[in-house]
Amino acid sequence: MSKIEFPYLHGFDSIEQKRLRKQAEFTEHTVYKDINLSYVKKLLEVGSGVGAQTEILLRRFPKLDITCIDRSPNQLEAAKKSLESCAYAKGRYQLHEMDATNIEFESETFDGAFLCWILEHVPDPGKVMSEVRRVLRPGSVVYITEVLNSSFFLEPYSPHVWKYWMAFNDYQYDMKGDPFIGAKLGNILLQQGYRDIKVESKTWHLDNRRPGKRKEFIEFWTELLLSASEQLIKDKYVDEETVSKAKEELKTVRNDPNAVFYYSFIQARAKAF
Ligand SMILES: C[S@@+](CC[C@H](N)C(=O)[O-])C[C@H]1O[C@@H](n2cnc3c(N)ncnc32)[C@H](O)[C@@H]1O
Repeated sequence: MSKIEFPYLHGFDSIEQKRLRKQAEFTEHTVYKDINLSYVKKLLEVGSGVGAQTEILLRRFPKLDITCIDRSPNQLEAAKKSLESCAYAKGRYQLHEMDATNIEFESETFDGAFLCWILEHVPDPGKVMSEVRRVLRPGSVVYITEVLNSSFFLEPYSPHVWKYWMAFNDYQYDMKGDPFIGAKLGNILLQQGYRDIKVESKTWHLDNRRPGKRKEFIEFWTELLLSASEQLIKDKYVDEETVSKAKEELKTVRNDPNAVFYYSFIQARAKAF
């Protein structure tokens, strides 16, 4: 039985939980290419969801102990189930139901923090980063991975996908999230007093150089886009016809011999002092 939840763009059902796992697996190579937490022992993972990134972090960095916080009881329950069946995770993680804008740990508890696809859903990302800074020991590293939805490009031109994408972003905005937050990470980190800030764009640019990967990627992206469709129709941001035409266009793109998929996300690394 699902517990009562805050409103959330993608929802919390088991299909969405499976999608989050697939997303973490699918994007691991690009997301983790420049992440080094090998010298961190006590890591805070903010907005840990179903624990999909937690599993990757624990596998990649065998000395890590991770404290996961998420405000969703359903996601935490799914994370618990999945991490319990992961042999290398045993005794190396704790899960807490907690709001990232009010972190209930003492100051200077952790020596690293990791945030992936969470700030985009938070009305006050500055407050989250201020709380994260408070619970980090001076000199600790923080990694943030975030969306920049204005970077999305698709060839051939797909007008209903664009219409749907605009509605998707409007909806996130109206829910007090920010689909363009990636571009603002540098400013947020500076405002909150972080130092040694490095901000980089990471791009998936898939074309005829890698047709197999392109097809896989468009399939993955279709799932991501449509994960919000029920919600968007229910709240009248799009109609059924737009969704069904967008689906057809995505199918056409997937099978087009000259298709292009382009999307950039942003990753920031900084130190707390
Ligand atoms: C898109 S999911 C990402 C989960 C995980 N980081 C990953 O990459 O698989 C965003 C998560 O942030 C959580 N979240 C959103 N706002 C939050 C807040 N204010 N405090 C704690 N968690 C929050 C949601 O419950 C959700 O589990």
